[in-house]
Amino acid sequence: MIPLAGVIGDPIAHSRSPLLHGHWLRRHGIDGHYIPLHVRASDLGGTLALLPRLGFRGVNVTLPHKEAVFALADEATDRARAVGAANTLTFRDGRIHADNTDGAGFIANLRQGAPDWAGDRPALVLGAGGAARGVVAALLDEGVPTVTLANRTAARAEALAGQFDDRVRTIDWNDTGPALADHALLVNTTSLGMTGQPPLDVDLSALPGDAVVTDIVYTPLSTPLLTAAQARGNPTVDGLGMLLHQAAPGFAAWFGVTPQVDDDLRRAVLG
Ligand code: ATR
Repeated sequence: MIPLAGVIGDPIAHSRSPLLHGHWLRRHGIDGHYIPLHVRASDLGGTLALLPRLGFRGVNVTLPHKEAVFALADEATDRARAVGAANTLTFRDGRIHADNTDGAGFIANLRQGAPDWAGDRPALVLGAGGAARGVVAALLDEGVPTVTLANRTAARAEALAGQFDDRVRTIDWNDTGPALADHALLVNTTSLGMTGQPPLDVDLSALPGDAVVTDIVYTPLSTPLLTAAQARGNPTVDGLGMLLHQAAPGFAAWFGVTPQVDDDLRRAVLG
């Protein structure tokens, strides 16, 4: 049977995952397909039961199903358990295996884009949604000594910090600018700066000159935050690489080849 994989979400039309997996399938000469599937929450359980019978080896999972599929899975990796959500499912031996590769994708992108990043110094993360949760967990795993969290809605930042130990502390959203001093990494996990959203307006003047600035937004590739950071000479890493790196483990599990994340892939995904 021709190997199949795909991505499930609601909505799904905007997903770039078919472009990137399609590129890897062609590049490795694999006779397989990667298919976007629009799945509503009410159809999730039925779809996960059906897909393996249709020849699917697994699927990526995007909004809003990441938590729900974790709950439906038979087994989960430690890193999926750590965030209570999954973005990669593999169907094997009649069971659903859940993994979460977002955090590892974030770190791989950071390491590739900013090889000199000082991971032994504090990081500041903006936002307190699901994306922030994955990023904070990955940074702590990577050995970052402290993570400062700032979110427009302070209660959400406090709730998120409460899921970790005292290495994670919160500050008021309006104090972000002055708090940037002493941080070696600034991460935007909010939707601010995305096409159609207001820009993220933060005063970078206190940020150390060698601090890395990264955004998980990748439409546009250079967000107003990254443009402002570049203008003052800080190293920056755009968010597209996180999407590319988080996809690699799923492709390897489903199609048996570990794919490369390189400029050819970036071009294919940008279209
Ligand atoms: P995700 O799972 O992708 O992180 P989310 O849970 O909707 O998505 O979180 C979006 C993040 O963007 C939140 O931190 C949100 O802040 P609130 O918790 O205060 O809602 C942040 N965000 C969205 N629009 C914002 C805005 N206009 N100003 C500041 N923060 C904003």
